[in-house]
Order: sequence, then structure tokens, then C-alpha cells
Amino acid sequence: MTTRILSELNIPIIGAPMAGGPSTPELAAAVSRAGGLGMIAGALLTPDALAAQVDSVRDHLFGVNLFLPEESTGADVDAYAAQLRPWFDKFDVEPGALPRRDDYYTEKFDWLISNPVPLVSSTFGTFTADEVARLHSVGTEVWATVATADDASVATAHGVDALVVQGPEAGGHRGTFDGSAPEAPLADVLAAVAAVSSLPRIAAGGLMDGYDIAPLLNSGAAHAAQLGTAFLDTPEAGTRAVHRAQLAVATRTAVTRAFSGRPARGLENDFMRENSEVAPLAYPDVHYLTAPMRAKSAAANDPSALSMWAGTGFARVQNRPAAELVAEWATQLGR
Ligand SMILES: Cc1cc2nc3c(=O)[nH]c(=O)nc-3n(C[C@H](O)[C@H](O)[C@H](O)COP(=O)(O)O)c2cc1C
Repeated sequence: MTTRILSELNIPIIGAPMAGGPSTPELAAAVSRAGGLGMIAGALLTPDALAAQVDSVRDHLFGVNLFLPEESTGADVDAYAAQLRPWFDKFDVEPGALPRRDDYYTEKFDWLISNPVPLVSSTFGTFTADEVARLHSVGTEVWATVATADDASVATAHGVDALVVQGPEAGGHRGTFDGSAPEAPLADVLAAVAAVSSLPRIAAGGLMDGYDIAPLLNSGAAHAAQLGTAFLDTPEAGTRAVHRAQLAVATRTAVTRAFSGRPARGLENDFMRENSEVAPLAYPDVHYLTAPMRAKSAAANDPSALSMWAGTGFARVQNRPAAELVAEWATQLGR
């Protein structure tokens, strides 16, 4: 079971899109040159910035990931902002305002239709059947990130070509369509998805090398793997210095809505410990609310109030070029 893009890869490894800084065109190009597939993280970029990043990797096979826009959940974001006042005071910032709820989704999507790319993947939902048809009509393959069997059923019905199946071990946001954070491990999610969809599955979550990936491929549980955390400390990644330093000393990760209003896994810090219980489900409202505080925390090299997304395998990150890592994992996979 494969797709056009998957069959073109020498090594069935995808460098995960990592919005917010860690993904760079250099990282995507390095993964693709090494025989895997590099991804451009299209979320949280202006349409112009996305266009510039995409146009800089057109010599390679690559994909683009978009977050689907979220409707307001009606949660009381003002009450949460009031609770965060001591944190805003500590960093001498005001609560951030919501610039646009939709992350320029329509502009970015239309640009990808006018300037086609090999692959587009969705996160926080699936493209509509009409959007999938538009992408197909310009020769673009379409994947959807799913985290439950229900997500997989919807995406399959909309006509996507493959499913990125994300387990709860994954760093960054949970890709569930409804903002929930189920805890069944990756292997169980893969099996549940296989029971409802015959599409190829790209496994994501907690995979740090070829030895982690091999059993999933050999058993047929997955057809490829998407790794994020394993690339966070490569020189090509845009990961901040404070985030890299904490990867080496942190003791655990946790899932929280405290920074963005959607469950995401990151290195546990004081802000998460204090606010995870009360944070509402309200993305991207909470993301923008905490943005000034997170920026100040990062600029001060202070890890206490910064989101440092990472998966459960973070202790095994390696500070080595991406191409070296992909080559080593290929050897471990017997390729
Ligand atoms: C820093 C960071 C940012 C992420 N940003 C995105 C993103 O923009 N889009 C997306 O689909 N997934 C994103 N993810 C999740 C990855 O696609 C993938 O599911 C995850 O990295 C797999 O788990 P791992 O980190 O244990 O390898 C992000 C993950 C991390 C660690």
C-alpha cells in the first residue's frame, strides 16, 4: 500500500512539520536530500513567508502542512487572561490580541493551488472533499493528520491519499479534529485506524530512530514514519537555544492547553504546572493571548513560561546534521 510520494522516497521517513520556529527550509531540504521527505510548516506564517519558504525548496521533493482554521469554542478566554495576570506582570507584558482567527488559511490554500507543490497535509481537521479535488486537479498529493479512528473515517471519506497517524507520545499539538487528547498509545491508534481505513498510514509520535520505526514497518502497522522531536536539535532546525538546552536537562513532558488552548506535548515547566488544569479549549485565542509572554520568556533565556514542544522520546535527541541522522536510521532499517 503506497502513494506516489511514498513510493518516490528512498527512505520512508518524513521530517515532521514543526511550526513556530523549529521547521526551516534548510531542515526540509536536508531531510529530502538524504532520501526522506522534508516538510514546510505552513501554520503561523504569513502567506508571503510561506511562499518564500516553499519557493526556496522547489528543487526538492517536499510537502507543506497547514493547520485548518478553528471556530470559536465560546470558552471564557477573558477569565483565563485574568488568571494569568501574575505571569504577564512577571514578564512585564500585556495579554496578546487575536489578530486573525483563520491564520490566512484561504490565502495560503489558494496560493498552493496557483503554485502547486508535491504534497499538502492538514492538521486539526481534514480538507473538504472539494478542497481535496482542487489539490488533486493541480497534481498535489493530500495527507491528513489523524489521531483517532473517527478522524480517519472522516478524512478517508473526503478522498485524501494517506493518513499521518499521530499517537499521544508526539511532541507538539495533538492533531485530533475535536481538540481532545485521547491516551491510547500509537500502536493502538494505528490498529484502530487500520480497522476503518485502507489508506497508507504514516506513524508519528515518540519515534526517535530506525530501531523504533522498524517494527511498525515490518508488521505492516505503518508504511512510513514522521519524526519531529528527533530533528529538534539538528543544526538545520530553527529551535531556540533555550529549548535546545532544556531538551538536555528536562526530566519529563506533559500535555497542556495552557499555552495555546489546544492540547500539546512539551517539556514540563512552571507555567504548565500552574495553569494546565484551568486552561480552556480555545485555539488560537490562547495561543495569541500568551504570545507576548512566551516571546519575553524566550528572549530572557528563561524556560519557565515558554512552550517547548517535544515528544516522549526527547531524552534521545542528537545534536547532529539531519542528513547524518536519516542515513543512520536508514541503516538501522536495513536500507
Ligand atoms: C516543535 C514541534 C512543532 C510541531 N508543529 C507541527 C505542525 O506545525 N504541524 C503538524 O502537523 N504537526 C506538528 N508537530 C507534530 C509533528 O507533526 C509530529 O506529530 C510529532 O513531532 C511526532 O512526534 P515526535 O515529536 O515524538 O517525533 C510539531 C511537533 C513539534 C515537536
